[in-house]
Amino acid sequence: MRETPAACTIRSASSSPNGGDWLLSLYEKVIVLGSIVSVESDFKTDLAQKASRINVVLMEILDRQGGVFPRLKEGMRYTLESPGKRIRAAVVLWACEAACGKVLPTAEIAAATVEMVHTYSLIHDDLPAMDDDNLRRGRPTCHKAFDEATAILTGDALLTLAFEVLARDIPDTAVSANLIRTLAAAAGPSGMITGQMADMEAEHTVGTVEVLRHIHLNKTARMFAAAAAMGGISGGADESRQGRLVQYGLEIGLGFQIADDILDISSTPDQLGKTPGKDQHQGKVTYPTVVGLEESRRILGQLTERAQQVLSSFDSRADRLRELARELAQRKS
Ligand code: IPE
Ligand code: IPE
Ligand code: MG
Ligand code: MG
Ligand code: MG
Repeated sequence: MRETPAACTIRSASSSPNGGDWLLSLYEKVIVLGSIVSVESDFKTDLAQKASRINVVLMEILDRQGGVFPRLKEGMRYTLESPGKRIRAAVVLWACEAACGKVLPTAEIAAATVEMVHTYSLIHDDLPAMDDDNLRRGRPTCHKAFDEATAILTGDALLTLAFEVLARDIPDTAVSANLIRTLAAAAGPSGMITGQMADMEAEHTVGTVEVLRHIHLNKTARMFAAAAAMGGISGGADESRQGRLVQYGLEIGLGFQIADDILDISSTPDQLGKTPGKDQHQGKVTYPTVVGLEESRRILGQLTERAQQVLSSFDSRADRLRELARELAQRKS
């Protein structure tokens, strides 16, 4: 935690022998507490600003896309407008800041495409043939609001458009190709799709930690690693930093899915925006079912620590990524 200048001033004054030490010490506590609150709220404000910026970019992408069948466009709009947390987009933007100190336009485009691919993955994940969910982001799932065929095609449309945008809108062709390769590798058959396939195949089996790690790393952590990597690529990170950003993404991504498993058994529809208890209902292999709730929380804590250690060679420009790792370990939605 960095202190506010005011906290430092009061701290040095409190040692003066003026008989008011207790008052100064009280001030000190209040101000230090205030600085903790302000660091947390700075984080939340920054996340909210980044999410709303990405929402704007997503709508610009959608509005600009001509020749889309009206019902398909409605499906795309419905799912892109739904209130996702935009965590992966924030990872792209914060990784870019960690690499170069600011958010570049390339990172904003990359962040929007990551959210498009993520949103497609949720639409398909919710289908009756997969997890069969009715509620997503506090709203009816795409196949409930429309129909199954429209949901499948809406997912296809978002996935494909993401790559069209990366190929078309990133002016530096080498950067564009690198972003496309990174996102495709994470979302494709040797990444998220394998994770989803393994998740389905593991239903109603006993499961082991090895199987779980394989599922969670592929279905979720690979996309977080891609988000961090795409931020690094956008910000021109060197090879060593790029490697660290990828590792950071894997650690928080695995932690993110463990937290998702925990929330499925401990949260409410209002908090989650989706139906809890689904994992048990579907016979999913999850961290709580395999290692228990307490051990799941311990592993999550360990991943959070590791994510922060991985960033040790970065300066304060990576603070948001550090804060994010801590926030995700405590998330309630
Ligand atoms: C849900 O991801 C799918 C998982 C990998 C657990 P999020 O919890 O980030 O979903 P949104 O985007 O905020 O709805
Ligand atoms: C979803 O995992 C992972 C992907 C969409 C790739 P879950 O099936 O656990 O996600 P939720 O709980 O439905 O959001
Ligand atoms: Mg699933
Ligand atoms: Mg699901
Ligand atoms: Mg889940």
